[in-house]
Amino acid sequence: MYVCLEGIDGSGKSTHTAMIEKWLKKCGIQVFRIFEPTDSKVGRLIREMLQDPGATDENFQRTLALLFAADRTILMEKIAQAESEGRVVVSDRCFYSSMVYQDGPEWIGEINKFARKPDVTLLLDLDPETAMTRCKGSDSFEDLKFLSRTRTRYLELAEKEGFFIVNADNGINKVHDDIKHVLAPKLGMCI
Ligand SMILES: Nc1ncnc2c1ncn2[C@@H]1O[C@H](COP(=O)(O)OP(=O)(O)OP(=O)(O)O)[C@@H](O)[C@H]1O
Ligand SMILES: [Mg+2]
Repeated sequence: MYVCLEGIDGSGKSTHTAMIEKWLKKCGIQVFRIFEPTDSKVGRLIREMLQDPGATDENFQRTLALLFAADRTILMEKIAQAESEGRVVVSDRCFYSSMVYQDGPEWIGEINKFARKPDVTLLLDLDPETAMTRCKGSDSFEDLKFLSRTRTRYLELAEKEGFFIVNADNGINKVHDDIKHVLAPKLGMCI
């Protein structure tokens, strides 16, 4: 099974993918925890490019979108391998992040045609103001506007794609419990 956590920056994806891994391991389930961009050569290049302060023009964004799709294509083989070994794949972001962050859904869909959709996607939904207080280093109005736009896009996609929406504006343990309630039945587990 391939599980993905999505959500705006600061919504708790890293926190909760780690907690899911810990919980499943404790229950004797093997886990393959991943994140996007990955630590492949392409993923490292993406991270480097994202540091570029001038990384806003259209052609740069297009290039990034292509690199994200390439990084994800490499990842698909690793996911298939992990699943064939009976591991549960828990991912911090997936193909849906490209749908939300990059413009042009048709083109983005096409270049990501080798990327499998997760079996279960949870959207950690959080208001942008709270997300900003959780993210270090972002406090401008532009950042807030961007987070708001991204959240709206996530909520639209959630409706279309049937994501499980988790209220991330609760304490960490409550959010984890809510995530467990979604995942446990899918994995044939009791909580
Ligand atoms: N439910 C919560 N309540 C309070 N603080 C939280 C909660 N969830 C996460 N945090 C804290 O908020 C910060 C951001 O969380 P985290 O790094 O997991 O978010 P993220 O979605 O991975 O962000 P990014 O997309 O920037 O990587 C961390 O310091 C984390 O400890
Ligand atoms: Mg993170």
